[in-house]
Amino acid sequence: MKAAVHTRYGPPDVVRVVDVDKPAAKADEVLIKVHATTVNRTDCGFRAAKPFIVRFFTGLVRLRVWILGNEFAGVVEAVGGGVTSFKAGDRVFGYCEGRFGAHAEYLVVSQANALATMPAGLTYQQAAPSTEGSHYALSFIRAAKIQRGQDVLVYGATGAIGSAAVQLLKRLGANVTAVCGSGNLELVRGLGADRVIDSTVKEFTRDEQRYDAVFDAVGKSSFGRCRRLLKAGGIYGSTDLGPLSLNPLLALVTPPLGPLLGGRRVKFPLPRQDPEMAWYFKGLIESGQFKPLIDRRYPLEEIVEAYRYVETGQKIGNVVITVQPP
Ligand SMILES: NC(=O)c1ccc[n+]([C@@H]2O[C@H](COP(=O)([O-])OP(=O)(O)OC[C@H]3O[C@@H](n4cnc5c(N)ncnc54)[C@H](OP(=O)(O)O)[C@@H]3O)[C@@H](O)[C@H]2O)c1
Repeated sequence: MKAAVHTRYGPPDVVRVVDVDKPAAKADEVLIKVHATTVNRTDCGFRAAKPFIVRFFTGLVRLRVWILGNEFAGVVEAVGGGVTSFKAGDRVFGYCEGRFGAHAEYLVVSQANALATMPAGLTYQQAAPSTEGSHYALSFIRAAKIQRGQDVLVYGATGAIGSAAVQLLKRLGANVTAVCGSGNLELVRGLGADRVIDSTVKEFTRDEQRYDAVFDAVGKSSFGRCRRLLKAGGIYGSTDLGPLSLNPLLALVTPPLGPLLGGRRVKFPLPRQDPEMAWYFKGLIESGQFKPLIDRRYPLEEIVEAYRYVETGQKIGNVVITVQPP
């Protein structure tokens, strides 16, 4: 089968599309013929080993994972003897960070991974980008326990994570202020944002409104800069480790420092990736409450170009890789 393979950490051109052996499903595994996948920031981080910590998962010096790709949509080709939830011929989609392997014509995942049957009415290209950005967004929203009527600011509202966060927050009934560049104001309003701040006109940390939560979905701010935006008891979250990689530590120390900070605190949740997560997004998509935003599409053969584009930091939503022509 064809697969996008890399044998060392590095820039996009360490990736080559070559022929490799087709994998086989073990007892609790599902073999999927991949029709579409994505290149996302998780793939970029693991390919480049940035941040360094990813080496603890995929190999300190020698790579243990040669084929990246963590979002997928395709058709079940075969199942192991212990698999009861899926059968050959099922159209499925899902997420497999850590295990990876979706940048290939065939992928094996465990039935315990985030795997569900495809949302009705979606193409493989539309379903593939449904889980990475959205599960990071959901993870923060659940950790911050966002309630109907709360005021939430999303910084970086046009990324995969930010565009999902705006939609998921609106579904909960939050009042959403979204920050994005001037070219994307209408797009972000269309996702449901109640108020939009043009980052090219106004520095969002100087906003006069106060928020129950500030979610930095592009990982470019800090708790220190955003603290003044938070109401008493307000929560700050970020998709990145933050300056000096302090966000995980701040998540530990800000709750006990509560009285000093007016109860303002940092959350840095570890996202779940289990079957429930994929079934949850299938339900939201089918009920029209969530639609992944898609930017460019590339064939698998041009995956290096896709990596280069994602690493400009300027993609809008998600970049899809077509593995089987529609
Ligand atoms: N290392 C990893 O494994 C990993 C994995 C997943 C996510 N992440 C983190 O998650 C972040 C978001 O990823 P994503 O895929 O959702 O989005 P993304 O592709 O990184 O974000 C794209 C959008 O963010 C805005 N943006 C770009 N640079 C910005 C800046 N300096 N300040 C403010 N906004 C900026 C731009 O929109 P506008 O022009 O409209 O502002 C752009 O369209 C990443 O930056 C990364 O920090 C890391």
